[in-house]
Amino acid sequence: MPPTLRPRRLRQSAPMRRLVAETRIHPAQLVLPMFVAEGLDEPRPISSMPGQVQHTLDSAASEVERAIAAGVGGIMLFGVPTEKDAVGSGATDPDGILNRATRFLAERFGDATVVQTDLCLDEFTDHGHCGVLASDGSVDNDATLARYAGMALAQAEAGSRILGLSGMMDGQVEHVRAALDAAGHLDTAILGYSAKYASALYGPFREAVDSSLQGDRKTYQQDPANRREGLREALLDIAEGADIVMVKPASLYLDVLADVAAASDVPVWAYQVSGEYAMVEAAAANGWIDRDRMIAESLTSIVRAGADVVLTYWAIEQAQLLGTQGLGARS
Ligand code: PBG
Repeated sequence: MPPTLRPRRLRQSAPMRRLVAETRIHPAQLVLPMFVAEGLDEPRPISSMPGQVQHTLDSAASEVERAIAAGVGGIMLFGVPTEKDAVGSGATDPDGILNRATRFLAERFGDATVVQTDLCLDEFTDHGHCGVLASDGSVDNDATLARYAGMALAQAEAGSRILGLSGMMDGQVEHVRAALDAAGHLDTAILGYSAKYASALYGPFREAVDSSLQGDRKTYQQDPANRREGLREALLDIAEGADIVMVKPASLYLDVLADVAAASDVPVWAYQVSGEYAMVEAAAANGWIDRDRMIAESLTSIVRAGADVVLTYWAIEQAQLLGTQGLGARS
């Protein structure tokens, strides 16, 4: 008996496949993470992230212009300071590199894009942890919350529209929301990096921000073994007032992403992190993988799993491509 049910009918040609594609990506769904470094005369390439650089203020401005022209939804800023200390003073200093870059870019481009900032201490501390340390060397959750409140005010005052809380301290969303509201920053949104796993995929990022970290972040970032806990973290952040929640990394955590997307009543984002970028670029540079198909497939999978927006280092390139043809058209 020949089959009567033939799913292949809908795969017979490129136009047919494009017509029935279940997942489409729009440039506005892509957010570009960017590194702005203090004390540079010119942009400095990040060797483990080919094509990505630590920016000067000027090169960051040109990059943001390109992102806007390509239709990218927004930018996420990370600061790379020249000086670090135990409490990460540069993070709350209005003249610290991240706050300076935010002010500079928000003044220029704040009407044309959404300027967002990473709210975490790790780039600013000499020990490289995301929080301040207690006398026994552990990361002190509640003392860190006070530092995050200070960072939130500095970033909001500098013009950041969305604060990306990536430090994985308990209660950080509630604490930062209260600090923002008390200071009148009612319209500054909070993106909770809610389900953030202690991942080997952050390796290249550590080079990107000249991280000083010795050891690991396993007492605050999540254990990759835990799926249910990812949903719990996201629901806690929503209950604490997060405007957006995120799952990070993306590709290896699509199960968590799908769980969060099914349960969330706020937007759900995903971060395609430095290692996800580096692995594709490295394999492609060796001729072992089709780079463009790999990028398209990875982004499609992340959106298919439930991400409304993806932070990706390929944001500009992909937005440019989508603007001309659309991911579906290439399949
Ligand atoms: C913390 C932070 C990290 C990343 C984004 N925010 C590093 C970490 O948690 O160790 C990683 C992003 C990436 O790998 O692309 N400030």
